[in-house]
Amino acid sequence: MSAVTQLPAWQALQQRIETALETPILSLFDDPERFDKYSLKVQNILLDISKNPIDDDTFQQLLELARQCDLEKRRDAMFNGEHINVTEDRAVLHTALRNRGHSPVYVDGEDVMPIIEHELKRMRVFVNAVRKGRWRGHSGKRITDVVNIGIGGSDLGPRMVTQALKPYADDQINIHFVSNVDGMEIANVLKGLNPERVLFVVASKTFTTSETMTNAQTARNWLMASSFDSRAVAQHFVAVSSNAVAVKAFGIKLENTFQMWDWVGGRFSLWSAIGLPIALYLGFKQFEELLQGAHDMDLHFRNEPLERNAPMWLALTTLWNSTFLGRHSQAILPYDWPLKKFSAYLQQAEMESNGKSVDRNGDIVPYTTGSIIWGQLGIDGQHAFYQYLHQGNTIVPADFIGSVESSTPVAGHHEKLMANFFAQTEALMCGINADDVRRDLTAKGMSSANIERLIPHKIHQGNRPTNSLILDHLSPRTLGALIALYEHKIFILGTIWDICSFDQWGVELGKTLAQNILPELQSGDVRDDHDDSTRNLMQYFVDQRKS
Ligand code: F6P
Repeated sequence: MSAVTQLPAWQALQQRIETALETPILSLFDDPERFDKYSLKVQNILLDISKNPIDDDTFQQLLELARQCDLEKRRDAMFNGEHINVTEDRAVLHTALRNRGHSPVYVDGEDVMPIIEHELKRMRVFVNAVRKGRWRGHSGKRITDVVNIGIGGSDLGPRMVTQALKPYADDQINIHFVSNVDGMEIANVLKGLNPERVLFVVASKTFTTSETMTNAQTARNWLMASSFDSRAVAQHFVAVSSNAVAVKAFGIKLENTFQMWDWVGGRFSLWSAIGLPIALYLGFKQFEELLQGAHDMDLHFRNEPLERNAPMWLALTTLWNSTFLGRHSQAILPYDWPLKKFSAYLQQAEMESNGKSVDRNGDIVPYTTGSIIWGQLGIDGQHAFYQYLHQGNTIVPADFIGSVESSTPVAGHHEKLMANFFAQTEALMCGINADDVRRDLTAKGMSSANIERLIPHKIHQGNRPTNSLILDHLSPRTLGALIALYEHKIFILGTIWDICSFDQWGVELGKTLAQNILPELQSGDVRDDHDDSTRNLMQYFVDQRKS
């Protein structure tokens, strides 16, 4: 029996499930203060969780559950560098990377702030040299294009942030990303580039990830093929990694390697030198603004009482909707075009962290942990999958994210965009019942026979939970705060579920099998110790390629 499910607050919450499922969210607004109680403003972000099936007593019990799970103690343990990544025996210190207060942070007795600040300084010097044209290509030409080669946490963060903050870029540097081992991606990126003006950033914490190493080798061959000799690698390749030996073996010099540490998880690493493409694209000052925004959110998470703590609120809505009410999927729906890649970013952050089924002691957990995170730009989603959100028979809680001011104001557009944001959250909660449908269709002159036939199809049950996040304006600082908000949400959920959010053993088996299968595809000799389906599929692939 899991210790968490035995906690008094967990048991009390179990007793509240039926009422929550039977009570329309809309009826909770009989309390005229509900919006004020369940919305708060933090770091230029208004967070409203009032459209959730959470009444005051449930909210208090959820907070109580967090306390009974020692949330505050475990939060402090993370910030203080304790080895909370228990299966890898590591500290978890992405917060130290953006510790703009510069107070010491100890890992195993050593203050890590000096090495973090040293690395940030190296990044600043390098970024300024490239952007001001002091760092040049092998033939003396200025660098105009940066290609980040990395995958997962070494790709998604910089890819998402550079897209989100495009309006802050000054066009000195063009930025490109290559993550997939499908040759099309790198071929497409290289096609438009001049080798004399390209800088490749090979980003890989381990420097062993097969996709990244394959793409880096292809980029190197491409450079060599343009009549450069191997000395050119020094001017056109830099690395971000914690594996200095492998970086050197690839041919990148130590002085062109930016360090990261084992206490920075890949999916939490954009604050480290993994953020180098962000700084190259936007300039170092904007990168520092991003760090500052995240640091401000860290301070909020550490210092504000749990009752008025934004990451807590976000986590508790997911905990209640998913683990207790059985709504295991969650949509992330930005109404802010620059946040186009935000749901893909959060998908890795949340699902790789909390997609676990054993607790920290290795015992199977008897409740559902991480949600299925998915989504895309809200407006486009409205014309694709919102039908399912409104009338599907699975309820999908959703986070709506928009801004007061557009990043790229064009007359008449932003109000239309945000009208949809408000309309959708209203429709999802309030729905429309048979009487209203009847009244509406009667006013349009439809025959009563047709009306009665259509009513069941037009009813929206409503009662679908949403969170609303409204940013003042999508600036580097606000984006930093927004990302940190979700990072802490992930930590809180992992703490309450009592799982280790900071390892990712589940990605290993597939990697190992792919390594074993590759030589079989290359030689055409398919071994017979695969399961029948896989062996036949591989044989088909090999045979088709021969014919
Ligand atoms: O396969 C998953 C993963 O290990 C992620 O956790 C990580 O972000 C990604 O691969 C890339 O790893 P690396 O930075 O070591 O290349």
